[in-house]
Amino acid sequence: MKKYTNIKDLENITEIIKEAIQLKKNPYLYEELGKHKTLVMLFFNASLRTRLSTEKAAKNLGMDVMVLNVNDSWKLEFDNGTMMNFNTAEHIKEAAQVVSQYADIIAVRAFPSLKDKPKDIADAVLNSFVKYASVPVINMESAVAHPLQALTDAITIEELKTKKKPKIVLSWAPHPKALPHAVANSFVNMMSEIDANFSITHPKGYELDAQLTKNIPIEYNQKKALQNADFVYVKNWSSYSDYGKILSKDPSWMLTKEKVGTAKFMHCLPVRRNVVVEDAVLDSNASVVIQQANNRTFAAQVVLKKIIENLSS
Ligand code: CP
Repeated sequence: MKKYTNIKDLENITEIIKEAIQLKKNPYLYEELGKHKTLVMLFFNASLRTRLSTEKAAKNLGMDVMVLNVNDSWKLEFDNGTMMNFNTAEHIKEAAQVVSQYADIIAVRAFPSLKDKPKDIADAVLNSFVKYASVPVINMESAVAHPLQALTDAITIEELKTKKKPKIVLSWAPHPKALPHAVANSFVNMMSEIDANFSITHPKGYELDAQLTKNIPIEYNQKKALQNADFVYVKNWSSYSDYGKILSKDPSWMLTKEKVGTAKFMHCLPVRRNVVVEDAVLDSNASVVIQQANNRTFAAQVVLKKIIENLSS
């Protein structure tokens, strides 16, 4: 694998999921593979799981890890031809080349503004690193995609499914803040790659990018959508058409024990209790969010392994 910015970079998803499950059973099997290789992780935004699980994954492979909170560093310029006489101190052209000299792999987290749709869709920060870095780049959640999370979710579903083609529903839930579309986008992409009876439920106005969902059933009645589900994946996102806006905080969309029924409850975390989902779900056996978070390590580990193997070939 040359990079991992989108789940399309996974050449054989079924095999990669199986390999991640094997790595989970024997995480130190390849502890020599990453010796004298360095992962540099650049964070433009906060993280708990991505930061710790990706570092753990790299260390399981014997890699060295360096982490930079970019907001503690020089403010970067991403536009070309700009007269940099305001508050940006360093251009991405220099920064990406410099970091590449310290790193064998660069991983980047950079959320969208949710204010400038064309700029967000262009995924400028991540794609600038891909363009100017001379080493492979991993997406740790960009403006439009969170492929490490989606691979984690597919691993978790594979571990827990009790039928070949489970019914999986992605449900919008309320949230007090405007949130990005990246997790939902990558989950939708992943559901087209695995054997699943997949649908989406959300209030009107919360349609995701139509290109992404063109072959997927959308049900506006949440209760109806969730009937007989095997997995309910819950996530808030802001409006895509009325870009970045909160159109509804309707509490009746919160996930309850009654609505989840016999399904497994999934969420990428962090999650707001009793806003997105009630305590009775998170504190029950229906919730698999802790197992999901654990699988972040093995999703990252299989991706790092594939990239290192490609470096050495
Ligand atoms: N799910 C996820 O990406 O968690 P963090 O934002 O804590 O990294």
